[in-house]
Amino acid sequence: MLAIIGGTGLTQMQGLEVTKRHSAETPLGSASGSVLQGQLGEHEVLFLARHGHPHKLPPHRVNYRANLWALKQAGASRIVGVNAVGGIDPVHAPEALVVPDQLIDYTSGRESTYFDGRFKSLKHIDFSWPYDQALRQAVLEAGRAAGEALHDGGTYGCTQGPRLETAAEIARMARDGCSLVGMTGMPEATLARELEIPYACLALVVNPAPGVVEREITMAEIEAALVGGIERVKRVLRTLLEA
Ligand code: HPA
Repeated sequence: MLAIIGGTGLTQMQGLEVTKRHSAETPLGSASGSVLQGQLGEHEVLFLARHGHPHKLPPHRVNYRANLWALKQAGASRIVGVNAVGGIDPVHAPEALVVPDQLIDYTSGRESTYFDGRFKSLKHIDFSWPYDQALRQAVLEAGRAAGEALHDGGTYGCTQGPRLETAAEIARMARDGCSLVGMTGMPEATLARELEIPYACLALVVNPAPGVVEREITMAEIEAALVGGIERVKRVLRTLLEA
């Protein structure tokens, strides 16, 4: 079953006819909310709001381990994480949709593994290519079928937040090769890999990254880009479900 982790701007899946609510409780604590199972059109899907509904948990306080565990328990066999991001590469203007193929983790202090020697014994997983290629291609194909332009590839840099970055931090991330910046891509991607669930990211650009433009970033511009962009995200997801 396909699962969608909805980020900022996608705390609810309109049109989802909920048939089951899976408990948020896991051996790792509480997920951000119940995992909703239901029909979207003719297709069964799981949905979890990453920050809860209404949006309450900041990126660094999301219990990613519980979220991914709850999705696995509910029967997720593929996961698409939807993430609002800033565009570091100037080609990624607000409302652009991007399916990144790499990531760099700049977060700190997040519980980021099940294999910590306590919950599960130590294990080093391969993470060379952090996103599932087949699922990435399926998302890109859904974009084509839905008539939505999706950028194929790019490196998602995950910062700790909740503040936005300084211009110097973004310049460093650009030198590192990051094309996008967000706060929630990690450890979600690695936990999905540890649970052996194919995972891909559908990123919605909601602002130019700090310093990419010669002005401050406002919450109003982020909200405006979310309003327009999230409808396109939903079209892509609905098309993905129909594939
Ligand atoms: N930086 C980090 N995370 C974000 C941004 C940003 O500019 N925009 C949306 N999420």
